[in-house]
Amino acid sequence: MENFQSPSSYINGLGKVLSSSLSYVQNEIVGRGLKAAVVSTSKQGSGRVVVFDAENNPGLMKKVVAISLASAAAFGSAFYVGYQLAKRRHRFHVREADKNDQIEHILGKFKLSKECLHKVMELLLDEMYKGLDPATHDKADVKMFPTYVRSLPDGTEKGDILALDLGGTNFRVLLINLDSGDIKVKSKVFLIPQSIMTGTGIQLFDHIAKCLAGFMNAEKLIQNNREYPLGFTFSFPCHQKGLASAILANWTKGFDCSGVVGNDVVAMLQEAIERRGDIKVKVLALVNDTVGTLMASAYNDQNTRIGLILGTGSNACYVENLDHVKTWDGDRNDPKQVIINMEWGAFGDNGCLNFLRTDYDIEVDKTSLNPTRQIYEKMMSGMYMGEIVRLIILDLWEKELLFVGHRDHSWSTDYRQALYTKGSFYTKYVSEIETDSGVTYRHTKSVLEQMGLDRPTYDDCVIVQYVCKLVSRRAAQLAAAGLAVLLNHINAPNVTIAVDGSLYRFHPKFKKNMEKAMQMLVHPHIRYQIVLSTDGSGIGAALSAVTAPDYKDYKTNFSF
Ligand code: BGC
Repeated sequence: MENFQSPSSYINGLGKVLSSSLSYVQNEIVGRGLKAAVVSTSKQGSGRVVVFDAENNPGLMKKVVAISLASAAAFGSAFYVGYQLAKRRHRFHVREADKNDQIEHILGKFKLSKECLHKVMELLLDEMYKGLDPATHDKADVKMFPTYVRSLPDGTEKGDILALDLGGTNFRVLLINLDSGDIKVKSKVFLIPQSIMTGTGIQLFDHIAKCLAGFMNAEKLIQNNREYPLGFTFSFPCHQKGLASAILANWTKGFDCSGVVGNDVVAMLQEAIERRGDIKVKVLALVNDTVGTLMASAYNDQNTRIGLILGTGSNACYVENLDHVKTWDGDRNDPKQVIINMEWGAFGDNGCLNFLRTDYDIEVDKTSLNPTRQIYEKMMSGMYMGEIVRLIILDLWEKELLFVGHRDHSWSTDYRQALYTKGSFYTKYVSEIETDSGVTYRHTKSVLEQMGLDRPTYDDCVIVQYVCKLVSRRAAQLAAAGLAVLLNHINAPNVTIAVDGSLYRFHPKFKKNMEKAMQMLVHPHIRYQIVLSTDGSGIGAALSAVTAPDYKDYKTNFSF
């Protein structure tokens, strides 16, 4: 077990390192220097320790300078070593050892071994094959939907196009100009109110069409009765029937609009646009956000083969050889490949990941809008991470292992309300808390204060940060296992993985933790790089739309 250490003992430790370095410097270095000075002055015949005359003793002057530098270096190193020790140890602190053991025991399941990650990889590969085979597809959790995107952009694409990006609580309208590798984007973010996220499908698509019309109006695109082409990024599981036809399989991420599952969302959007009558827009292509991310990155990097989203939800897509896609019903001409939207968030829905789920994961699932679904996603995406942390903190608090000093104070009652409120610990708090290094815990304190905990103690900060680290590291390792399966399966010598999503973008250590785990899981002969594909989902929809056969009918030309 990792050792917990009290702040006073590490400060003592630091003091010891510093004082032993100091005495070493005094005895060994300064002492010798002084002896040299005495010897030198006595050589001049006085026998007394006299003020050293540098001009007459240039050699000795050099020695003194050297000694001073050595002393400074010794002090510096001692301080650095002490600081590093303090940094390493301060994470683990509660005064009583048995409480430390209890905390470690409670959190133990969040530490995934290499064997465990290998098992996750085996299971995922198994599920992938089930999704790609018509005999098992219907029952498979990981749906492996073939998209109708077969060629990747090569950087020569040109065109002006509108795009919509719907996938989380925010929704964006974009105006995109593609010019042989250059991309210009104008965009506006709109909020989707909770009432619309769980209202009717008609209300949802009417809201989207209204925002689109508002944007087009502001950009002066409602002129000359002209029709504009549009690419639609719709980040939910869809069974695609073509580039511009997609049947919603189920909702995820807090959406639950009635009357959409089983229907074509492109047609529903088109109808909403037409119902308005004030804008003329044709939806030419629908893509998942993972596919958009892959496409946007491929525009500049031909090695891109994988698209990954780590945001409110999580999912991946990759370029698959058509020979492996038994569910493919289109032609098998060149290019003999198609992008597969894995919908990996549903991995584990059949219970195969139960061996690593904790009570907190089970609770998060139970109280979600879609219980028993999206099990893998719920263990690693931004929508659920903060809630997992809240449940752990609450459990530690109930077991009297956290906020110990705040239990009986009337001034500290507020925080309990937050602690018991679902969703009160935002995932952005996890990122903020993990930016703290050193011993001041500025962000951690501020987060705990925002939750109503007055003057959090050092112990509180250490433990809360430890919880965040374990939960986010597990998420990064699970994502790494998924990526390793894909890299090993694609088995190309050099692959670029395009990533987007708020969790990945804003968490200070996600990428590092993911790469660390991938190093032990990916075959050593495969080289890969993980690149951020900012704005990828919107741009990718535009890229798919400009390659649609109907696009050539549009001669749009936006001014930027
Ligand atoms: C959806 C995917 C999407 C992912 C990331 C998941 O909940 O099912 O379609 O790609 O979130 O946005």
